[in-house]
Amino acid sequence: MINIIIEDRNGNIEPIEIPEGISLSLMEVLKASEYNVLATCGGMALCATCHVQVLEGQDQLGQPNDAELDMLDTLPDAEQNSRLACQIRVDESLNGCKFRIAGREN
Ligand code: FES
Repeated sequence: MINIIIEDRNGNIEPIEIPEGISLSLMEVLKASEYNVLATCGGMALCATCHVQVLEGQDQLGQPNDAELDMLDTLPDAEQNSRLACQIRVDESLNGCKFRIAGREN
C-alpha cells in the first residue's frame, strides 16, 4: 500500500491508503476519495483547480513539467511548495507525503 496524508480546506487531516500498481494521478485519487477537487480540465494542467501544497515529502516528487509550472505561475496563491495534483503520478515514491488541498471549490 502507498500511504499519504491529506489535509482538506477545513484543516481535517486524514490518511489515504492507495494500492500499489494503480496508474492514477493524485487528482484522480483525491476525487475517488471524495475530496472536493473540481479538476475542470480533466487533468490537462489547464485549470489549476487541483492545486495542492506539498507539506511533507516535496523532494520525493519529480520536478514539475513546463505546463505545470506555467499554470502555477498564474495562481495568486501559489507557494513554493505548490503543485498540480493532476500532474503527480501516484506510486511508491509518494509514501509518507502530506498534501494540503488548495484549489478552488467551485
Ligand atoms: S485538473 Fe486541471 S490543472 Fe489539474
